[in-house]
Amino acid sequence: MSRRRLIGGAGAAGAAGLVLGAAGGAAGYAATRPDEPAALTTVGSTEVMFHGKHQPGITTPLQARGHLVAFDLVPGAGRKEAIALMRRWSATAGRLMAGEPAGNGAADGPDHDTGIALDAGPSSLTVTFGFGRTFFERTGLTDRRPPGLDPLPPFSSDHIDAARSNGDLWVQIGADDALVAFHALRAVQKEAAPAARVRWQMNGFNRAPGATARPMTARNLMGQIDGTNNPKPSESDFDRRIFVPDTTDAPYDWLAGGSYAVVRRIRMLLDDWEKLPVERQEQVIGRRKQDGAPLSGGTETTALDLDRAGPDGKLLIPDNAHARISSPGKNSGAAMLRRPFSYHDGISADGAPDAGLLFICWQADPLRGFVPVQRKLDRGDALSPFIRHEASGLFAVPGGAADGEYVGQRLLES
Ligand code: HEM
Repeated sequence: MSRRRLIGGAGAAGAAGLVLGAAGGAAGYAATRPDEPAALTTVGSTEVMFHGKHQPGITTPLQARGHLVAFDLVPGAGRKEAIALMRRWSATAGRLMAGEPAGNGAADGPDHDTGIALDAGPSSLTVTFGFGRTFFERTGLTDRRPPGLDPLPPFSSDHIDAARSNGDLWVQIGADDALVAFHALRAVQKEAAPAARVRWQMNGFNRAPGATARPMTARNLMGQIDGTNNPKPSESDFDRRIFVPDTTDAPYDWLAGGSYAVVRRIRMLLDDWEKLPVERQEQVIGRRKQDGAPLSGGTETTALDLDRAGPDGKLLIPDNAHARISSPGKNSGAAMLRRPFSYHDGISADGAPDAGLLFICWQADPLRGFVPVQRKLDRGDALSPFIRHEASGLFAVPGGAADGEYVGQRLLES
């Protein structure tokens, strides 16, 4: 404990989107405990709790490195195998998030650790598990499948690759160290082996903690400050918007404290985007590029004034600006917590980067979060010519496991 900084659940730093500043901790520690070995830096020693009301990786501040991986149960595997798998994965996630090796020598578990993360601390590792629509058919639990898992509607601008979409099971891994994150990915994949096979896998990144002089909202690969108007855990309606309430209908009570993750791989057409002058780029979003301030005035955190016009009578935040179209005020209050990773998968033969946003948003109900907002963006977002939705997933993410419990136990064993 004394060598670690703990990040709790929903209270964490008030913001996915803010990256914690680093440094200082190691020096302070060494000064007060001279007899102990030198401490890990703040980045390495930060630990997120596995057990709790909600799973980690939802309100945890954005991490520098992320892996998303979806699995399908192998032919013949059903509920029994799914139970064993979730038990193995949960035990391993708990150990890895505490900075311990993966292997425990259990009969059904791995008997050694790969060593990839040796010497590193937990580095804010989080491992988050979700169930896709098809999981319920495979495990004979369709009567407990919530309506929130109904397939997302098609959108006119979709270019969705089914092979890189959905899946029985979804795992989100995040860490502030690339080796720690990859170590967790290997452990999760190896432990899936008897029961499930990888369906698709994607890698992402965010700015590293300490890269900016003070904690700041992240930027995406278009250079925009992205995440400003996310719901904040300090807001009174945050839980209601992001997490499934405790008092829900009996067949779906297993999802209390859980959430829905919508995952979209959104390619950015950066060659086209970067040709736009900055003023045009700002009109597309409705915010200034430099500091994220709304074009209606103020600073990054000033509320958008959607009615304010300039001296020429034109709206300062244009009609088709992304921030206007997606704002809760224009969508009957629809809100979601956006917690993305950027991605870059090399450069295509035509010289265009295969890069963009692994858009992940969290909400208590996708039909009152992602779906209505994306419907509207699909019809008239000024950003649309510069992006392409290439893959899609929708997952029910159970509440956090209590001590001694594994993730999904309330669904699989009741
Ligand atoms: C590559 C694709 C996207 C990019 C580059 C992007 C970028 C941005 C930026 C720069 C902002 C303004 C700053 C902020 O409040 O965070 C923003 C706001 C927002 N975006 Fe996106 N976005 C993308 C896709 C989406 C999608 C697919 C959705 C949901 C369907 C979405 C929903 C929102 C929402 C709800 C806001 C906050 C609006 C407000 O309340 O002011 N975005 N986005």
